[in-house]
Amino acid sequence: MSSESGRGSNQRLQGKVAIVTGGASGIGESVARLFADHGARMVVIVDIQDDLGNKVAESIGVHRCTFVHCDVTDENQVKTTVESTVQKFSQLDVMFSNAGILSSSQQTVLDLDVSKLDRLFAINVRGMALCVKHAARAMVEGRVRGSIVCTASVVARHGGKAHTDYVMSKHAVLGLVRSASMQLGEYGIRVNTVSPNGVATPLTCKAFGMDAGEAEKLFESFAHLKGVAPKTRHVADAVLYLACDESEFVTGADLAVDGGFVGA
Ligand SMILES: NC(=O)c1ccc[n+]([C@@H]2O[C@H](COP(=O)([O-])OP(=O)(O)OC[C@H]3O[C@@H](n4cnc5c(N)ncnc54)[C@H](O)[C@@H]3O)[C@@H](O)[C@H]2O)c1
Repeated sequence: MSSESGRGSNQRLQGKVAIVTGGASGIGESVARLFADHGARMVVIVDIQDDLGNKVAESIGVHRCTFVHCDVTDENQVKTTVESTVQKFSQLDVMFSNAGILSSSQQTVLDLDVSKLDRLFAINVRGMALCVKHAARAMVEGRVRGSIVCTASVVARHGGKAHTDYVMSKHAVLGLVRSASMQLGEYGIRVNTVSPNGVATPLTCKAFGMDAGEAEKLFESFAHLKGVAPKTRHVADAVLYLACDESEFVTGADLAVDGGFVGA
């Protein structure tokens, strides 16, 4: 076991500085907590939910975690957030680009609401690209062999009977990450995706009109693997692996966290 990189230990991000977008809630919150537990020097939670984001950061501890209001659709806000992180904490090692939404209607092709599609793309696709762009620039400038992880979805592997705009956006995330991983490899920067199927979060509970317990049961039924209720912590464990040095030869990969889900 190598203690230097924290490999196999509970300090796998020791000394690292990480940004977590969408960190006020759901998967992002779990990842922010796990990164801090694993010794990250600073976790910067980026979100538009200020009260929630501040509460999460305070509960993790202000010496290890801070909240920054940033709308990922706005390039200036993303650029400033990344630059101020580097200024305050001297470098950026990890970007977990995770903020995302689902449209409030079914968005079948026949009933596609294009203004909703535009809004969703602004967050799920443009926002994702902006976070990758500015994190990568900071890492290149700082000569940091960093790790960028984006949240895609198992829906990026097949079509869907609804939520066409969401399915399209997650296919785009895979395209972004595959391209970025090829372009950034020469700088030692790794870029990967994590793809959950379903875990109970405010996003999915609202979409399915269920409470967390009901949503968890539904998502468990989607998996071939029985006896495991899917939790945000399962996704966070996968993100931690991709973020830390244990995955130092892994780039351009899409890591499914789905209990063996094979199709809709
Ligand atoms: N929960 C699932 O089952 C599931 C499955 C596959 C993929 N995902 C993806 O995981 C990611 C996180 O989703 P979640 O389920 O944790 O949902 P969530 O709603 O709990 O968290 C998403 C967070 O993103 C933030 N956000 C939204 N728009 C933003 C913006 N413009 N700028 C900054 N922050 C913004 C929200 O305020 C929220 O805190 C999303 O990209 C989602 O598509 C979720």
